[in-house]
Amino acid sequence: MKPYKIALIPGDGIGPEVVAEGVKVLKAIEEVDKNISFSFTTFPWGCEYYLKYGKMMDEKALDLLKDYDAIYLGAVGYPGVPDHISLRDLLIKIRRGFDQYVNLRPVSLLHPDLTPLKAKSEKDIDMLVIRENSEGEYAGAGEWLFKGNPEEVVLQTGVFSRKGTERIIRYAYEEARKSNRTLTSISKGNALNYSHVFWDQLFEEIGMEYPDVETYSYLVDAASLYFVTQPERFGVVVTSNLFGDIVTDIGAGITGGLGLATGANINPEKSYPSMFEPVHGSAPDIAGKGACNPIAAIWSVSQMLDFFGLEDWGSAVLQVIREVLKDKESLTADLGGRATTEELGEYIIEKLIK
Ligand code: NAD
Ligand code: IPM
Ligand code: MN
Repeated sequence: MKPYKIALIPGDGIGPEVVAEGVKVLKAIEEVDKNISFSFTTFPWGCEYYLKYGKMMDEKALDLLKDYDAIYLGAVGYPGVPDHISLRDLLIKIRRGFDQYVNLRPVSLLHPDLTPLKAKSEKDIDMLVIRENSEGEYAGAGEWLFKGNPEEVVLQTGVFSRKGTERIIRYAYEEARKSNRTLTSISKGNALNYSHVFWDQLFEEIGMEYPDVETYSYLVDAASLYFVTQPERFGVVVTSNLFGDIVTDIGAGITGGLGLATGANINPEKSYPSMFEPVHGSAPDIAGKGACNPIAAIWSVSQMLDFFGLEDWGSAVLQVIREVLKDKESLTADLGGRATTEELGEYIIEKLIK
C-alpha cells in the first residue's frame, strides 16, 4: 500500500525530543496494522540551521514540502535567534504559505486532577477552539515609520478579508452542526473595526444558514474570564488569529498545561499539506534534559491520524493518553510525575499496542 508521506520538522529545544516520541507512536501503529504505512523525511530546519546558513529553512522549503501528506513539527525559536525571525520565517511562513487557515485546538480536560479550577470536571471543560490561522495581526502587514526618530511609530495591521473571515466562520458552523454543539464567536467589536465590520456581522449573517446551531458571541476580555470561571459555557469556539493564540494558552492552563495542548493547522481543501504540532514552544528552560512532556505532540499525532481518515487509531491514541494520565507516577515532572520523556512515550506505546 502507498505510505502516508510525513515531513518532520523537529525544530528547536524540546521540539526534537517530543517529535521523536510521536514518530515512535506512528511506527508502532504501522508495526501492528499491516494496512498502514508511513514514510518519514526529516528537514533539519530551525535556529541551529539559521546560525549555520543564515536562513531558517531552505529557500525552496515550500516546494520541498508541498507533496507531503502532512508535516509534523516540534517547536521553533531559541535564544540566540530573534523570535521575530525564527517564527516568521518558518512556522508562520508554512501556515500562511500552505493556506492552513484552520487551526484546530481542542481544549479538553483529559483527567479531573489536571485542572487548577475548583469543582470543574471533564464535562465542564470540553471545547474545540477553531483559530483563524492565516491573517489578522499575523498577516505581516504594517510599517515602521520615522525609524530612529523620537516620533517613530510601528504599525501592525490586523488584516481581515471577507473571504478569510467567511471561510473560517463557515468552517466553525459546519463543525458545530456536525458535532451538535453550541458555537461561540470571540471578538472585540466594541473597540476594533475589523471585529465589528466583518467578524461579528458575518458571524450573524452566516448563522442564518444554520438555524439549528445555538450561538453565542463574546468579547475577548469577557471570554477570557469565562474560560476560567465558567468553561462549561463553551462548545465549539471560533476566533481570530491573535485572540485564538491567547485563549488557547488559557485553555492549556485550565487543562493541565502546555505539555498537554495540541493544534492542527489544516488546509481543508487539501491543496497543500496540513501541519500538526503541539501548542507549546521550544521550552529552553527544560530542553535537552529528557524532562519534557511528549503528550501534546502525541495528541498531535492523534489529530494527524484523524485527518488521514484513520479515526480508529486517532481515537485509540487519545484514549491511551487519557489512561496514562490516571497513573501519576508514569508522568513527566510538569504533571507531578518522575518519568522521562522517553519513559512516558514508551508507556503510551506499550498501552496502545498491547
Ligand atoms: P514555551 O511553550 O516554550 O514554554 C513555556 C513554559 O511551558 C516553560 O516553562 C516550559 O518549560 C513549559 N513547557 C512547554 N512545553 C512543555 C512540555 N512539553 N513539557 C513540559 N513543560 C513544557 O513558551 P516560551 O518559553 O514563551 O517560548 C520559548 C520559545 O518557543 C520562544 O522562542 C517562542 O517564540 C517559541 N514558541 C514556539 C512555538 C511553536 O513553535 N509553535 C510556540 C510557542 C512558542
Ligand atoms: C502558537 C505560537 C505561535 C503563534 C508563535 C510562536 C508565532 O505561540 O502556535 O501558539 O503565535 O501562533
Ligand atoms: Mn501560542
